[in-house]
Amino acid sequence: MHLLVLGGTRFLGRHLADLALQRGHRVTLLHRGRSGSGLFPQAEHLIADRNADLSVLDGRRFDAVVDTSAYWPRQVREVAARLAGRVGHYQMVSTISVYADPDAGALTEDATLATLADPATETVSGETYGGLKVLCEQAAVDGFGAGRTLLPRPGLLVGPHDPTERFTWWVRRLLRAAPGSEVLAPGDPAGPVQFIDARDAAAWMLAQAESGRSGPFNLTGPATPLSMEAFLATARRVLAPADPPPRLCWVAEDFLLEQGVASWTELPLWLPRRSDGIHRTEIARALATGLQCRALEATLQDTAAWARAAPLSRAGEGPPRPPTGLAPEREAALLQAWHTTPRG
Ligand SMILES: NC(=O)c1ccc[n+]([C@@H]2O[C@H](COP(=O)([O-])OP(=O)(O)OC[C@H]3O[C@@H](n4cnc5c(N)ncnc54)[C@H](OP(=O)(O)O)[C@@H]3O)[C@@H](O)[C@H]2O)c1
Repeated sequence: MHLLVLGGTRFLGRHLADLALQRGHRVTLLHRGRSGSGLFPQAEHLIADRNADLSVLDGRRFDAVVDTSAYWPRQVREVAARLAGRVGHYQMVSTISVYADPDAGALTEDATLATLADPATETVSGETYGGLKVLCEQAAVDGFGAGRTLLPRPGLLVGPHDPTERFTWWVRRLLRAAPGSEVLAPGDPAGPVQFIDARDAAAWMLAQAESGRSGPFNLTGPATPLSMEAFLATARRVLAPADPPPRLCWVAEDFLLEQGVASWTELPLWLPRRSDGIHRTEIARALATGLQCRALEATLQDTAAWARAAPLSRAGEGPPRPPTGLAPEREAALLQAWHTTPRG
């Protein structure tokens, strides 16, 4: 298969390109040449800014296109104007954030989609990101046809090369834990957490491109439910010193909220119970079409190996993100306050 990846040199797209090359596909990558310099010499590289000039695509044909770098519908329309009729299969990488009410219950692909007050907005923010991806999905279906368009909706993507320091923040936190020290563990130990190793997402996406499947698919993991307690206990076992291991100190969500701790950003992955809908996403459709999630231990070990060698990542593209993770002094102050606050 001749595969075009719009992107392909940073994280999800990078894993996808890597896998496609390993599987013997002919791969073309379109990017600006800013990320991953020197990657994939065996691929064709089209250097272009998709916001400025996509004429490098004129007259080209591809069996499949995976679009990892669209955030505005006009970007998808521009690709369709250049390639529609000459592409067998088009994947528009969307997001789990497309749903209007993530906390309404277990999120299936049929849940109501978000709408934007201003569909012409050019601002990508936490408020507009999901609604803009909905419009990108619609532009993909309009441009390439529903039968040729696959809409992967990933949850939190994790693993080596993640530019966002969310899952990786926990990896670094456990790696630097001193023997016997306390690590702040947020909220309800039994609360759910979902994320997917970007390599597993890429493998599923490539398989769908090979088979030409279409439609929307939630794409997160693991295959069986994971609690915050199981996640942190596994991370501690895999990453932290064993003699003696650090202690997980569970701090109640009401206390964290009273102290002004920002869920998801200051304590990555943690969401208060009333707004943890994106950790309750239904993934039966992806599992039934071959999604396989590797063991958490493997994701932790591989992320740690990469994080040890990688400097703290810059934020990725997409919605601007505040700095991720509790500073060590703030964590220590919160733990002290938790231990000294009388509780009834
Ligand atoms: N991270 C998550 O947890 C998460 C969750 C849900 C959905 N998603 C979605 O997953 C997708 C994956 O992003 P990724 O960063 O992992 O993909 P990626 O393909 O690994 O990296 C982004 C690529 O796009 C290229 N690019 C960026 N702007 C461009 C432009 N104006 N013109 C041409 N090329 C451009 C970058 O190269 P250059 O910089 O060299 O141009 C890079 O190759 C995104 O659509 C995101 O919305 C991510």
